[in-house]
Amino acid sequence: MKALKILAIETSCDETGIALLEASGGMAAPKFKVIENLVASQVKVHIPFGGVVPSLAKREHLKNLPVLFKKLEDKIMTRSGRLSFDLIAVTAGPGLEPALWTGIEFAKQLGKQYKKPVVGVNHLEGHLYSFLLKKPGIMSALGARKIKNMFPAVALIVSGGHTILLKLDSLAKWRRLGETRDDAAGEAFDKVARLLDLPYPGGPEIEKLAKKGDPAAIPFPRPMIHDKSYDFSFSGLKTAVLYYIRDNPAAKKADVAASFQEAAIDLLVTKTMRAAREASARSILLSGGVAANRALRARLKAAAKKTGCAFLVPDMTYNLDNAAMIGGAGYMATLRKKRYPLKASGEMNI
Ligand code: KG4
Ligand code: ZN
Repeated sequence: MKALKILAIETSCDETGIALLEASGGMAAPKFKVIENLVASQVKVHIPFGGVVPSLAKREHLKNLPVLFKKLEDKIMTRSGRLSFDLIAVTAGPGLEPALWTGIEFAKQLGKQYKKPVVGVNHLEGHLYSFLLKKPGIMSALGARKIKNMFPAVALIVSGGHTILLKLDSLAKWRRLGETRDDAAGEAFDKVARLLDLPYPGGPEIEKLAKKGDPAAIPFPRPMIHDKSYDFSFSGLKTAVLYYIRDNPAAKKADVAASFQEAAIDLLVTKTMRAAREASARSILLSGGVAANRALRARLKAAAKKTGCAFLVPDMTYNLDNAAMIGGAGYMATLRKKRYPLKASGEMNI
């Protein structure tokens, strides 16, 4: 199968992303080379509200999309004279519907203008496959043998909206083992950050503060950790932090952050490792915004090593929402002949 040049667009939440990448190799050994991966973060716009405001997200995407596209065009033109691509991949869901529509409409318009097909992409598949991408300019190197030998695999997708555990038999076939029954892991980080008067998004702030605290200072609960299912629950942990702060106003914030982070990581690592053992997994995949957390990466990596599993995690560039991963998932969906309709689908699952 010939190489495809993919223009990718991501607008599911508060990051506007446009990327250009080359994909080749087919399902047996997919290879990607990210040419450009541009992201315009809206974080500053949402900070005063302590979270993402959908109507503002929509407004910002509408403003940012043409600016980012022009920037991409300029970069490519100065290098090779002309921007060309074979396919446009755009996030169709899950996410905020008004935000998703801006990307879809923009993609359709470009599709008409350049006379190229447009395919819808599942944002969660973007995260799932993000370990296949290397830094811009570098071709990914996982060969056919490595890909074949990595299955069965267990994948943990942890973001602001999702906490999902999958069992994969191949890059094209998987089954959902469990997911959160209430808050997503990233949402718990964001809510606890708010309780500690830290700005949005809370994940990186908690991680920074936790470095100065004692993870064993406060024995926060680990809801459902011994439950037989592979589901997660984070809202009880968040509530325990709320009560602890209320009842111990003099508590050291760094200890609260470190102890909360420790409990959240325990929950994620314990369930993932149990799934890995029961599935006789040969590799463990971690992705999504919370995968940027170095403490989580280190703990899961160490646990995987102990069990003899390979640990596959995206480069730091691709944990948070970005368009390169949408291009990657667009290629994989095309190979799988999976079609997502070009309409915003807020609740799309994986
Ligand atoms: O994947 P993502 O960019 O957007 C969604 O698809 O939801 O994930 C964003 C989430 C936010 O909740 C953010 O607080 C969390 O990822 N996050 C982190 C870290 N960096 C981002 N959580 C923990 N530690 C981090 N370093
Ligand atoms: Zn995401």
